[in-house]
Amino acid sequence: MRQSPLVVVANRLPIDDSVAPDGACEWRRSPGGLVSALHPLLRHTPATWVGWAGGTGPAPHLPDVDGVRMHTVPLSADDFRDHYEGFANATLWPLYHDAVEQPEYHRRWWDAYQRVNQRFAEAAAEVAEPDGLVWVQDYHLQLVPGLLRRLRPDLRIGFFLHVPFPPPELFMQLPRRAELLRGMLGADVIGFQRAQAAHNFAQLVAKVLELPATDRQVTVDDRVVRVGAFPVSIDAAEMAALAARPEVADRARRLRQDLGEPEKVILSVDRMDYTKGIEQRLKAYRELLASGDVKVRDTVLIQVAVPSRQRVAQYQILRDRVEHQVGRINGEFGRVGEPAIHYFTQPFDRAELTALYRVADVMAVTPLRDGMNLVAKEYVAARVDDAGALLLSEFAGAAAELEQAYLVNPHDLEGLKRELLAALRATPEDVTTRMRAMREQVRRHDIHAWARSYLTVLDTGGALRDRLVPAD
Ligand code: ADP
Ligand code: F6P
Repeated sequence: MRQSPLVVVANRLPIDDSVAPDGACEWRRSPGGLVSALHPLLRHTPATWVGWAGGTGPAPHLPDVDGVRMHTVPLSADDFRDHYEGFANATLWPLYHDAVEQPEYHRRWWDAYQRVNQRFAEAAAEVAEPDGLVWVQDYHLQLVPGLLRRLRPDLRIGFFLHVPFPPPELFMQLPRRAELLRGMLGADVIGFQRAQAAHNFAQLVAKVLELPATDRQVTVDDRVVRVGAFPVSIDAAEMAALAARPEVADRARRLRQDLGEPEKVILSVDRMDYTKGIEQRLKAYRELLASGDVKVRDTVLIQVAVPSRQRVAQYQILRDRVEHQVGRINGEFGRVGEPAIHYFTQPFDRAELTALYRVADVMAVTPLRDGMNLVAKEYVAARVDDAGALLLSEFAGAAAELEQAYLVNPHDLEGLKRELLAALRATPEDVTTRMRAMREQVRRHDIHAWARSYLTVLDTGGALRDRLVPAD
């Protein structure tokens, strides 16, 4: 087995096991923030990515992609149901997102979570070079740092949580809360999106495990575990370059023509997830249409909502409700050839998505809770013309950095309508001033800056960090 100096461990691989018609295997930019963040970072580095290829059954063998080795961890149908759909996405996911849907607790799911985490830890132990660096990602794999440390005490181990980490009163619901915290503490560095999450973690460690903990470090078994906030980001330069391409600008112009040259285009791009606030946003839009503040010929809404975790009941219910709402709004307010909402559930390629960003006068990103929300940052990076207004939920991690957005509480329907109208009616000068400041923020705090700040803490020697992310 070939070993690598850097190993990323994430539930999902960035490609699936389907092969293109010419036999080549390409990066699959699956609609999800984790892959969007890590893909540009790892390209052309001597790394191995340990993850699941998306199906059930034996692990397919995948070729290296852009110099990164793919090491597949198989999930059986039972693992998929009880680990991925169960403990990861029906227990932890809702609990970590303010319990906007009721988390479910089943002992069988916990057994599967332990089993699958063990398998990921063994795979990482196998492919990491002696004294190498292993970077474990996200809530599916919270036990991996502890399991891996037992298998390979020589490694430096990082853990990064892409989703929010909940306040003690919610986390305390978890029947196996102590084991989860102990699993994370196997890492040398534990990174969160926001300082509040690091604070929640420190409080819980002190309360549940009775260990000395601050928002910056925890001492466990005579080891110091560093804790901190490292807000994840995007490859802003790559997005700006794509947006500046003449064919993308042309495509944006044609899209506007195809939409009937409306005065204002509102865009939303989400995974179909109950955390994204899609229903609340559609309700606000409907009320604005009903009151006449917004009129169909002048304004259109494009809602992209790519299906996700489709066998989980709450996701099926959400999709039905969203599609019912879209149908109802189009039925009531659309005209022949002029729907009030253009609704898509398809994945788009990067160029098409970027053209959509460039055509959107208002980008509405209104999750009820979101670890970061990279769509908001992509929109900002794509507005190389300094135009476009961002309507952004206070409850997205991105709100801490994009202060010039039109910030909203998505639970407050009147506030949502008010800020959406303010964004639609903003003067070009106001829009430009805000967008310029936000673009500068995203340009300076891009994915390379994120990796550099994390690896500066994790990779104490700095050799890998310098190879992966050269200094500015
Ligand atoms: P999450 O991680 O919860 O899915 P983020 O907003 O952080 O949310 O990341 C979503 C990522 O998925 C972004 O990079 C976005 O461009 C991508 N994406 C979302 N919808 C689509 C789609 N329909 N087609 C292609 N990419 C998509
Ligand atoms: O961080 C959110 C997350 O769970 C990521 O792991 C992933 O990028 C995204 O949501 C997509 O989720 P899934 O892998 O379940 O399709």
